Amino acid sequence: MTSHTSKTLDGKVAIVTGGASGIGEETARRLANHGAYVVIADIQDGKGRDLVASIGSQRCTYVHCDVTDEQQVKSLVESTLQSNGRLDILFSNAGIMNKIKQDILELDIPAFDSLFAVNVRGMAACVKHGARAMVAGGIKGSIICTASLLASTGNEIRVDYVMSKHAVLGLVRSASKQLGAYGIRVNCVSPGAVATPLLCGGLGVSEEEGERMFESSSCLKGVLKAKHVADAVVFLASEEAEFINGHNLAVDGGWAR
Ligand SMILES: NC(=O)c1ccc[n+]([C@@H]2O[C@H](COP(=O)([O-])OP(=O)(O)OC[C@H]3O[C@@H](n4cnc5c(N)ncnc54)[C@H](O)[C@@H]3O)[C@@H](O)[C@H]2O)c1
Repeated sequence: MTSHTSKTLDGKVAIVTGGASGIGEETARRLANHGAYVVIADIQDGKGRDLVASIGSQRCTYVHCDVTDEQQVKSLVESTLQSNGRLDILFSNAGIMNKIKQDILELDIPAFDSLFAVNVRGMAACVKHGARAMVAGGIKGSIICTASLLASTGNEIRVDYVMSKHAVLGLVRSASKQLGAYGIRVNCVSPGAVATPLLCGGLGVSEEEGERMFESSSCLKGVLKAKHVADAVVFLASEEAEFINGHNLAVDGGWAR
């Protein structure tokens, strides 16, 4: 049955990179629930297609896109425009964490390069092509990147990941200045620890173990989940955040360490 109640993102078209799992998956669900048509982009094709089946193929689609390949990012944006005529929201979220420790004394440079190709170069390519589509279409869109609480602080291990997230913050701060003239907003969310495959895989623990490990890391009682980050993204995408630009929105319950 079709609902006639209007929703906050009715008529909007969104791209979510890294949309097949974790924070991206939860955000794709929520953007669709708020009325947006969502293009889910990822390299995990099976998970992406399952997600489309679960949300409903009239409300979203899946496109294979490896963000390390600028051509694939360009095609993702072009196919979105061809099928939907516009791009209003870009959630540039795809990211990885190396399984090895990556402390500075043992830094594996090829692994560092592979991580930067996704977390930094891929992020920049997505913002570039998403923003070009918005500028060309005269769309006062909203671009949201996934940074991290590690974008603003150092860490005992994983120098490469911490550096990559600092770079995302630099991208958001600069792009927001450059795109503001077109009415395009660029912000980021900075989650604390969420027990997704990225973090649990990196630490070699199960989702339950991950949640238990990080329960005490926020001042706020409870467990940070992907849905909490997704709600913040939906807010930044909506007109309720109409004059919020260049902002780094922490979603960490007040980091306690
Ligand atoms: N989980 C956390 O604690 C946490 C905290 C802060 C920030 N983040 C960030 O959140 C974002 C989402 O991570 P998550 O925790 O949901 O992990 P996740 O592993 O569940 O999701 C990441 C998604 O990105 C996709 N991806 C990886 N490489 C890609 C590529 N080259 N092209 C396209 N897609 C690619 C993966 O296939 C996966 O579906 C990442 O940028 C991560 O750095 C996570």
